[in-house]
Amino acid sequence: MQPSKIAPRDRLIVALDLPEVAAAEAMIARLGDAVTFYKIGYQLAYTGGLPLVGRLADAGKKVFIDLKLHDIGNTVARGVESIAKLGATFLTVHAYPQTMKAAVEARAGSGLKILAVTVLTSYDDADLHAAGYRFGVSDLVEARAQQAQVLGVDGLVCSPQEAASLHKIVGHQMVLVTPGIRPAGTAAGDQKRIMTPARAIAAGGDYLVVGRPVLEAADPRAVADAIQAEIAQALG
Ligand code: C5P
Repeated sequence: MQPSKIAPRDRLIVALDLPEVAAAEAMIARLGDAVTFYKIGYQLAYTGGLPLVGRLADAGKKVFIDLKLHDIGNTVARGVESIAKLGATFLTVHAYPQTMKAAVEARAGSGLKILAVTVLTSYDDADLHAAGYRFGVSDLVEARAQQAQVLGVDGLVCSPQEAASLHKIVGHQMVLVTPGIRPAGTAAGDQKRIMTPARAIAAGGDYLVVGRPVLEAADPRAVADAIQAEIAQALG
């Protein structure tokens, strides 16, 4: 995948972090043609959201399934084969070598791309140590990014602050998908390492994931339009 060839309007991914499919469908209708790419995560997937993937694909939209898979290789492979049939564009897995290898092999021949989550952004060095790791966050992110690249993973999920250094490690063939985006003047919420859309694009983010700034806006469509304009301007 050539990040430079991604259509500017496809670079905004709106996270459908909503409690019911009906609420997600209402939001999709309100956003209309302002948004071409949606993310479905735990909250919506486990309340019946997965059939929405096919409906969105039929409507010409792209879907990112954010289920962060991790299990024995055979189980990951069978799960990825099933998910590939839903018609999604991206699926996340945790960046463990067995998991990434199984996912990449199982998605072959489908339109599904695999994104690896290197180290969850809520983890710091002490959390990794408590979980039994001897590496700190930056060393583990770098090691896992290199492993992901060698295994043929299509992209990485990272904070916009990590994007520049990750592009140095993996080059520009893997796409970098960055949450933690906040348009100027919107609330950070629980996100700690945030950037505006323009700065995230300038830092090397290829796709920007935005949830609450759009979902909680009085006028979600206006916010999405403004983010799209900011992305287009940042791309020059
Ligand atoms: O509402 P907000 O814009 O913070 O939503 C960001 C989305 O990106 C959420 O769906 C969140 O789960 C996801 N995400 C994240 N940080 C990561 C990986 C995913 O915020 N490291």
